[in-house]
Amino acid sequence: MTAEVIRRRQQLTTQQATQTDLRLDNTIRPKTLADYVGQCRLKDSLSIAIEAAKKRGEALDHVLFYGPPGLGKTTLALVIANEMGCPIQSTSAPALERPRDIVGLLMSMKANSVLFIDEIHRLNKVSEEILYSAMEDFVLDRSIGKGPTAKTIRVPLPRFTLIGATTKAGSIANPLRDRFGISYRLHYYEPEELHAILMRSARLLDIQITEAGAEAIGCRSRGTPRIANRLLKRVRDYVQVQHHVETAIDADHARQALDQYDIDPLGLDVTDRRLLRLVVEQFGGGPVGLESLAAAFGEDTKTLEEVFEPFLLQSGLLLRTPRGRVVSQKAVAHLYGLDSDMMQQVKAISQQLGQQLNLAVGPRDDDMAP
Ligand SMILES: Nc1ncnc2c1ncn2[C@@H]1O[C@H](COP(=O)(O)OP(=O)(O)O)[C@@H](O)[C@H]1O
Ligand SMILES: [Mg+2]
Repeated sequence: MTAEVIRRRQQLTTQQATQTDLRLDNTIRPKTLADYVGQCRLKDSLSIAIEAAKKRGEALDHVLFYGPPGLGKTTLALVIANEMGCPIQSTSAPALERPRDIVGLLMSMKANSVLFIDEIHRLNKVSEEILYSAMEDFVLDRSIGKGPTAKTIRVPLPRFTLIGATTKAGSIANPLRDRFGISYRLHYYEPEELHAILMRSARLLDIQITEAGAEAIGCRSRGTPRIANRLLKRVRDYVQVQHHVETAIDADHARQALDQYDIDPLGLDVTDRRLLRLVVEQFGGGPVGLESLAAAFGEDTKTLEEVFEPFLLQSGLLLRTPRGRVVSQKAVAHLYGLDSDMMQQVKAISQQLGQQLNLAVGPRDDDMAP
């Protein structure tokens, strides 16, 4: 397989936004809490907070959203501004390079409006410290003049809401984290929620799809709305080319198209399967240390941990134990198409051969990394 094909396939399964996704976003992003599918506990508590803030005529508390890419953090920031009926300024931490960038933004805030900072864990120290007093006391400390005559004046700011989003809650400094009154973790979506998201997107994009078609795409979407929406478009392309006429996407179309794109029934792509196979075939199912696995896989440890492992861990195919990575029985059964009888035989044979094939039964809480 050429590198180009692999790259294109990964564009289908990556959780990060691609250029095509960004073009799609405006059409299908939910604008209200009612349209926002899933994350029910988060929505319930958020809607109470919004309602209360509106009744008091005040800005909403500062909110932090964290969780993997593509689960709807940016969307929620826009939904909040919309529900509060207030303007929103959006930026991302890497764009706030110089202190004057964040100062400029804060000075332009209107009462009760929203400032959204994406990737907030990447904020530099100076900008972060400017935010502390802005978030807590709604003031900005500015120094005037230079040298011995320099002095600091406090500029009052209107009450605003800072919404931060991050994929790495652990990298946020404690003083910043503590200044968020509300903080929510976003979870991967259940198949029925992805189904609802797909039916909604199909309607907005004028794509004909059956319930079973949406279900089939949802199952392979890795719990991620961004991927679900992307696969929907690719399946539509496939159906148009294969069938020449406009037909509604059904489950068979979805399966054929996604098989063709090499996305399997669990949503794994070629790279995911290669990683799991490596653990089974070169390391006897594990445990294998991160460094050894990364070397064999041909990636650095950080990329392995941040890009390739999260979904496999989340879906219980790969487990992190104190002694290293281990594949689960579910992964082996899936990779080699084995039913439970066959799995028993595999284990018996490997025992007879005196080989250790370490197959974890399933994720245990104490096995999972935080
Ligand atoms: N709960 C949801 N309901 C419907 N669509 C959603 C939901 N969450 C995300 N999406 C869709 O997925 C896409 C990616 O969401 P986004 O908010 O950009 O994710 P994040 O900021 O977490 O990376 C958006 O275009 C949006 O249409
Ligand atoms: Mg985002």
